[in-house]
Amino acid sequence: MTNNYETLKVQLSHHNYKILIGSGLLDAITLHIGPMLNRKRVAVITDITISKLYLNRLSQAFKNEMIDCDTLILPCGEKSKSWETLSKTVEWLIKKKIERDDIIIAFGGGVIGDLVGFAASIVRRGVSVIQIPTTLLAQVDSSVGGKTGINSIHGKNLIGTFHQPALVIVDTDLLRTLPAREFLSGYAEVVKYGLLGDRKFFDWLDKNNDHLLNGDSEVVNYAVWKSCMAKAEIVIADEKEKGRRALLNLGHTFGHALESATNYSDTLIHGEGVSIGCILAFKFSRELGHCSRKNVERVIKHFKSVGLKTDFNDVPTDIPNAAEFVNLMMNDKKVKNGLLNLILVNDIGDSFVSQEVPLQKLKDFLTREMG
Ligand SMILES: NC(=O)c1ccc[n+]([C@@H]2O[C@H](COP(=O)([O-])OP(=O)(O)OC[C@H]3O[C@@H](n4cnc5c(N)ncnc54)[C@H](O)[C@@H]3O)[C@@H](O)[C@H]2O)c1
Ligand SMILES: [Zn+2]
Repeated sequence: MTNNYETLKVQLSHHNYKILIGSGLLDAITLHIGPMLNRKRVAVITDITISKLYLNRLSQAFKNEMIDCDTLILPCGEKSKSWETLSKTVEWLIKKKIERDDIIIAFGGGVIGDLVGFAASIVRRGVSVIQIPTTLLAQVDSSVGGKTGINSIHGKNLIGTFHQPALVIVDTDLLRTLPAREFLSGYAEVVKYGLLGDRKFFDWLDKNNDHLLNGDSEVVNYAVWKSCMAKAEIVIADEKEKGRRALLNLGHTFGHALESATNYSDTLIHGEGVSIGCILAFKFSRELGHCSRKNVERVIKHFKSVGLKTDFNDVPTDIPNAAEFVNLMMNDKKVKNGLLNLILVNDIGDSFVSQEVPLQKLKDFLTREMG
């Protein structure tokens, strides 16, 4: 990358938007947002941690351009993806008289991005949202692609909409304050792109993960750019997940069941579930004869070497038995006509949607994995 930021274009059938990726974008934010505003006014929604770290800088940038900036600060964590917080957010936007032609800014990790994206999509039948993702996970995944939502008592992300952002601004400098555990959680999603469709990228990660995890700016920027590009390409090909987009769920049906089993708590954060889930997907693919043992071992070695969780034993709480675990997996959105759709692999970088998962084999496999 030659400039201090790169631009990716996401061209969908009814909507186009840009993803800006680079360093130092936060302070120059009005350069990009200013021209998009219908009037000099924005609503920023963030969480407590981000507000302490970065809200002054963002507000100041707007103030310098005499743009009014109302802010709502929400509690941190997955529990905010609830009806209660959604209602609070929507009512706040209405009270602040945010109009249909205004812009709402989601400033935070995937939780804020999903919740605020959802709120923006339903308030006044849809207001534009700009995503400024602040975690690695949100920068490489959740801020791109327009999926928004909250959790149901029956499962994760079961309530939501597709609402594509008007712009995504990815300032990788913001990752410097991210706790190591959260950084690793996002890293699992980065690896996922290699595993599901780009073996070369996985090879590159195998060589460069030290630099990446140490926050080497050039390496981080490249990995974020590459991940956003992979996600954008898939979203462009299949915006509403009728087919190929489902590949992005590699490791996620297992992962979501684990998150549900641990009550969406700090016991297991999203990327940790994804890391265990990807390994389970590789192992199960091996069991069904799709993938070589060598590949499975290489993937496990990679996740282990960076310090990510790799199997059920790494989850420090009781997991329900295999039958109940399959029930949790069946609560995922990937169930069609009562059949479980799983993303399986032939190889590193070669994944596919399996619509006929043999449930008994899956149960037997899980029973053995759970030891
Ligand atoms: N919409 C999608 O396509 C999609 C894709 C993947 C994941 N998701 C969702 O994303 C959510 C997880 O997102 P997440 O991992 O970003 O979690 P998160 O939003 O809870 O952020 C993790 C923690 O890091 C803190 N934080 C955020 N940015 C920081 C920074 N720059 N410095 C210091 N601390 C910072 C937050 O306050 C929070 O406590 C899940 O709910 C998942 O379902 C959605
Ligand atoms: Zn994910």
